[in-house]
Amino acid sequence: SDPVPFYGEHQAGIVTPAQDRLHFVAFDVTTKDRAELVDLLQEWTSAAARMTQGQDAGTFGAVGGVPEAPPDDTGEALGLPASGLTLTIGFGPSLFDGRFGLADRKPAALAELPKFPGEALLPEISGGDLCVQACAHDPQVAVHAIRNLARIGFGKVSVRYSQLGFGRTSSTSRAQATPRNLMGFKDGTANLKLEDTDMLRDHLWVAEEDGAAWMAGGSYLVTRKIRMHIETWDRTSLTEQEAIFGRTKGEGAAHGMAKEFDEPDFAKKGPDGQPLIADIAHVKLAHPSSHGGARLLRRGYNFVDGSDGLGRLDAGLFFIAYQRDPHRQFVPVQLALARQDVLNEYIKHVSSGLFAIPPGVRDAGDYWGRTLF
Ligand code: HEM
Repeated sequence: SDPVPFYGEHQAGIVTPAQDRLHFVAFDVTTKDRAELVDLLQEWTSAAARMTQGQDAGTFGAVGGVPEAPPDDTGEALGLPASGLTLTIGFGPSLFDGRFGLADRKPAALAELPKFPGEALLPEISGGDLCVQACAHDPQVAVHAIRNLARIGFGKVSVRYSQLGFGRTSSTSRAQATPRNLMGFKDGTANLKLEDTDMLRDHLWVAEEDGAAWMAGGSYLVTRKIRMHIETWDRTSLTEQEAIFGRTKGEGAAHGMAKEFDEPDFAKKGPDGQPLIADIAHVKLAHPSSHGGARLLRRGYNFVDGSDGLGRLDAGLFFIAYQRDPHRQFVPVQLALARQDVLNEYIKHVSSGLFAIPPGVRDAGDYWGRTLF
């Protein structure tokens, strides 16, 4: 596949048609020196510009440098194409805690998320000063990219946690078929998509008048690692599974509708006089009409991190959503879901991340986060 352009008004990896594989990493910044952090962002930017175009991370490459020194690329992507690699950087709330003189630059939209009922967050896989989302069609390419950024960052940042995802659970373009999550349902049907330019302007991209001018052209990312109790789910009847979402499992159509992309009609009633889509169905609780029009661009991935030693797969959804303001979009939707969604019997949120995604890198003279520093 052709390389995805690295430079642009917005970072790639948001409306880019979702690739098949994910390697997501959160870093803690260990240096206390602001100039060192800026140097690192510049080094990362040039490595990212190269790797996303299918080149080695450094200019000498895996085998072209002096043999007495460690190579400036680790080598495992030699001979592999760009594979649609995108690298998307984000800044967590903790980066603005005063260590780098950024406290007065913190956007209001980056205020920490509230606690949600039922969540069981593990701090060691939550948060982070920085994050990088690597998406590609080849897992080796995504892992290579994150590994080289971690290598370049040695002594300035340390990996807090990282997460592999193996199958996209959303389409972010109308050209893509809707994939399925590990519950077997089409996921991403009613998503914000690349083609919805007006809605992207209203619901995805930060505008200058939103408060923090350095974020104009950027977005906000919420990640939630959601463990699924899939063995329990697999013993649940098809009727119950479909009622929980309010859509059919085969076609993915909203109840009462024939086709996947038919708009749900929440007023439609069955012969028993009850709504065909229950008020507590996932698609009703999450629908924009329940939240003053709030929408998300979902871009999550399936994960299976082996098994848990108790005979269960350690599996679920690494939920990723981009939006213009998480406190008006993710938060109200997640509050409604956390309180009422029957799906909660089958899932648990175990990690959480919130990141400001700065605007795109314009050209080779620009770098990730320039507008912030
Ligand atoms: C819709 C699955 C968690 C927000 C859907 C749909 C499925 C689904 C199957 C219907 C198809 C579609 O339109 O994409 C899941 C699963 C989850 C999960 C399995 C957890 C493991 C979440 C969370 C949020 C969320 C945490 C946000 C807080 C939405 C939204 C829609 C949706 C906004 C579209 C609603 C509409 O406009 O019709 N989800 N979801 N979901 N979900 Fe989730």
